[in-house]
Amino acid sequence: MLQPHVLSVCHVLVLVLCLSAAEDFDWTKNHRGSFYYGTFPTGFSWGVGSSAYQTEGAWDKDGKGMSIWDVFTHKKGKVMYNETGDSSCEGYYKVKDDIALLKELKLNHYRFSISWPRIMPTGIKSDHVNEKGIKYYDYLINLLLENKITPIVTLYHWDLPQVLQERYGGWQNLSMINYFNDYANLCFERFGNRVKYWITFNNPWSIAVEGYETGEHAPGMKLRGSGPYKAAHYIIKAHAKVWHTYDNQWRSKQKGMVGISLNGDWGEPVDITSQKDIEAAERYIQFYLGWFANPIFNGDYPQVMKDYIGRKSAQQGLGTSRLPTFSSQEKSYIKGTCDFLGIGHFTTRYITQKNFPASHGPSYFTDRDLAELVDPRWPDPGSEWLYSVPWGFRRLLNFVKIQYGNPMIYVTENGVSEKMTCTELCDDWRMQYFKEYINEMLKAIKDGVNVKGYTAWSLLDKFEWDEGYSERFGLYYVDFRNKNKPRYPKASVQYYKRIISSNGFPNQKEAENWHRKAIETCSSSNQLLAAEQQRTTAANILRLIHDPLTSHMEMVTEIVVPTVCILCILLSAIFLMFLLRRHN
Ligand code: BGC
Repeated sequence: MLQPHVLSVCHVLVLVLCLSAAEDFDWTKNHRGSFYYGTFPTGFSWGVGSSAYQTEGAWDKDGKGMSIWDVFTHKKGKVMYNETGDSSCEGYYKVKDDIALLKELKLNHYRFSISWPRIMPTGIKSDHVNEKGIKYYDYLINLLLENKITPIVTLYHWDLPQVLQERYGGWQNLSMINYFNDYANLCFERFGNRVKYWITFNNPWSIAVEGYETGEHAPGMKLRGSGPYKAAHYIIKAHAKVWHTYDNQWRSKQKGMVGISLNGDWGEPVDITSQKDIEAAERYIQFYLGWFANPIFNGDYPQVMKDYIGRKSAQQGLGTSRLPTFSSQEKSYIKGTCDFLGIGHFTTRYITQKNFPASHGPSYFTDRDLAELVDPRWPDPGSEWLYSVPWGFRRLLNFVKIQYGNPMIYVTENGVSEKMTCTELCDDWRMQYFKEYINEMLKAIKDGVNVKGYTAWSLLDKFEWDEGYSERFGLYYVDFRNKNKPRYPKASVQYYKRIISSNGFPNQKEAENWHRKAIETCSSSNQLLAAEQQRTTAANILRLIHDPLTSHMEMVTEIVVPTVCILCILLSAIFLMFLLRRHN
């Protein structure tokens, strides 16, 4: 993720935005800080999400092929502490347990992804279809339906079959479109009688930029300023092809919907009186969400991307733009290929105009001619890129409404992480985040944005890509040191559950009560977990004594870190007691 710069305090006091594209949303009437008490429309769908590589584990079991993430994580130096998703939450073996958690939350839907190489080990249908993989997803889908939970299924949450990467260069190659279509077609054939919500791609921005520009994600390529545009081009075409396949072959029988899940941070101009900043902020959003949404809803890349990348490419002496073009047939084939739009949203940036001379060389980031800033007062409990800025969510949702003709929206990802080695189940900041972000979504619905459902990200703590297990997004805490990967509810489980059962925020008194009750229950879960962790540490010590081959790293993560944590807690308690005594 980008290293944010710090915003000067004077800019922070700005309360109004006038983004050129958003004429019919009157920002001035809406104070950023006010809370709106009210409920969601009847039938609003509440859910949680997860993804295959991040939670399933069982990376080489029951005939599964390797994905680019299996290979990437097994290379040294790619992921924090060289962690892998080999076993992760062991979700593959814990379907029943996890569905019990969904039931506990009284959810309407569960968003998960299918691992392509689990059901097609090489990624190529004619090579082999792995029936054991199909059986696993059959089981998961059937159990969800038995429990009256609607499955929302993502076909591609980043785990491309490794064979397709090795043979063709993955999303740099046109042939991915047909391979992906064959895979999607198989999913419609085998699961489509029960699955009615399909998401082709999850967050293609990350696939393109982190997979092919910065190389922070698998397949780890650094094809700056061209690789990401090419990958995105094929992904958009693959999405459209799959939508047409569903439309032509399955829709009338199965009566489902096919969408895509796009991520977008909100970009707010630093200086709202500066036309340059206003334009830069709009450019930020167009290079992020618009890159994918504009072709799908309006038939082509955003004009501003064509202009900026075209101009820079020419200045760099290239005969054609680094941004590929769609033919007119392709434009009409792609336009309108979205029955619903999935929106993943986590955070916001302040944006200011900044020129990058073409001589800097090709790069997605410098193509945009802007700088990203953050307000130092924004809370950032976990991931360094994730600041809690609830009002940005409402603005983004209104932007989608205006730019793309008020499509049907499902929020497919929204949540916050904590960065803690030591355990804390009383996640106050997550309750606050959900409360405020969900409230901004409610305001957006009142503004007329067509949001049909919300998916909290995520059900469990899990493998966080290049950050390994260092960032915890879960409503449920997972004890990764324990081989059984037990799950413990954080306070936000109780809190989210109340929002769901009230379908919103009925009144202030009740919402405050939820918070108090959630904190009460989490302190007893905390004790339970602490006791369990002590047992695990003791068991690990015994295991290490008997296993001379255990590595030094294991020693550090399994014994030294928890012991230091426990000591830290003890010392802080003693120190607090000492202070209190002195005070008295
Ligand atoms: C990804 C998730 C990830 C989250 C937080 C999203 O864009 O789709 O898989 O957990 O970011 O890093």
